[in-house]
Amino acid sequence: MSATNVRYLKGNCLSQAISYPRILIHSCNCNGSWGGGIAYQLGVKYPKAEKDYNEICERFGSQLLGKFVLIPSYSDSTLLIGCLFTATFGGSNQGSGSDILHNTELSLEDMRILLQQPVKRSTNDIDVFLSQYMENVKGNLRYQLAEYHLEMPQINSGIFGVPWPKTEALLKLQKSLSFAVYVL
Ligand code: APR
Repeated sequence: MSATNVRYLKGNCLSQAISYPRILIHSCNCNGSWGGGIAYQLGVKYPKAEKDYNEICERFGSQLLGKFVLIPSYSDSTLLIGCLFTATFGGSNQGSGSDILHNTELSLEDMRILLQQPVKRSTNDIDVFLSQYMENVKGNLRYQLAEYHLEMPQINSGIFGVPWPKTEALLKLQKSLSFAVYVL
């Protein structure tokens, strides 16, 4: 049997009982809306994080497609929120899902680079802003970044309607990263 970098956990990914450091990764639109699903739950629990997400979307809009942004939860030192920008808009009318999957693949790769070698050498506005934002987040962490476990619900498979195995296949391509996936 071959080893896998994706393992499954049963239950609510936002359970109060989880107390180790982790990055909760979710699929975001670029339109500044955490209006449903896991994003809505994050916004209710972590309004300051939602404010950062709103401001980043207002500033860059769909230039965020295929990018990863790490946002502090602010009120829980063990939780960071990992945003994969996979669609321009929220809601369920996102076509076949192939664009979402393409942007998921790009943003997972952006995440890997930012987590493993965080200084991005670039001169364009968005990458300069995002790497400075990331440096600021890193400067205020309670734990080393490498200590934060990578966790997620079954992203893309709710409101976005993309069959889970298609997203799982993209996670498996990221062999240097390990993911825990919560299944309700
Ligand atoms: N714990 C574990 N799994 C959960 C939880 C939870 N608390 N809440 C939702 N889920 C599961 C859903 O059952 C689904 O399988 O998360 C998966 C992803 O569902 P959505 O939140 O609907 O997200 P997604 O399909 O990725 O669509 C993203 O919706 O979340 C908003 O603003 C976001 O526009 C974006 C879109």
